[in-house]
Amino acid sequence: MAVTIHQLRQLKQQGRPISVLTAWDFALATLLDQAGVDVVLVGDSLAMVALGYPTTLALTLEEMLYHAQAVTRGVKHALVVCDLPFLSYQESPQQALRSAGTLLQSAGVAAVKLEGGYPDMVITVHYLVERGIPVMGHVGLTPQSVHQFSGYRRQGTSDQDADRILQEAIALEEAGAFAIVLEHIPATLASKITNTLTIPTIGIGAGAACDGQVLVTADMLGLSDWQPPFAKSYANLRQSITAAVQDFCEDVRSQKFPQ
Ligand code: KIV
Repeated sequence: MAVTIHQLRQLKQQGRPISVLTAWDFALATLLDQAGVDVVLVGDSLAMVALGYPTTLALTLEEMLYHAQAVTRGVKHALVVCDLPFLSYQESPQQALRSAGTLLQSAGVAAVKLEGGYPDMVITVHYLVERGIPVMGHVGLTPQSVHQFSGYRRQGTSDQDADRILQEAIALEEAGAFAIVLEHIPATLASKITNTLTIPTIGIGAGAACDGQVLVTADMLGLSDWQPPFAKSYANLRQSITAAVQDFCEDVRSQKFPQ
């Protein structure tokens, strides 16, 4: 049975933390799903970790669709949520509907995620939800606004900014979002938001009180050469892959392989 947005809300009520990891291709998505992750996010971080772009801004809807199609082919159980890429939804709710509709229709993802709150994104979330498209919100550090923030800085550190983020989260829930990512904000603020909302909060660099946690899988597996301060590596695949490739090259050159 596939995970549903309804079940995520039940998990919050039961106090069972929700696990979320990102995927960008079939092989990785299959592994994450078979290992039992609750939600697979086709995050636009794939622009950086899989495509080598300097930020998430360059990723197009067409590129996202291509990756989302590969991911959904590999997932049988987890809920698949797909990021709406930069400039594929900010223009108007109608543009967001077309982009989200494309991802649901042509890739088979179950839901979309978009960044931001007041006022436009709250209106857009409401517009999408009213038309049957489940939406995950994302507040705090929203990487598509990296230039606006002058870098990947922690957000919500002043009382005023913290209150704005709390109000945005409340407004997104009222607009119909089924869950919300809280990125790189103080743990006390994330805890306050988590206790205020009835929908699940999914934290990344937001402390332990969130209803779930998300990591970029390239960071979690030790694949990326740069990692944010809040990431945790559960493996060092850079090291393992480099050693395996060096062994292969050595075997070929010394004619040990094939035997
Ligand atoms: O794109 C992404 O991977 C994300 C997560 C960091 C939440 O949005």
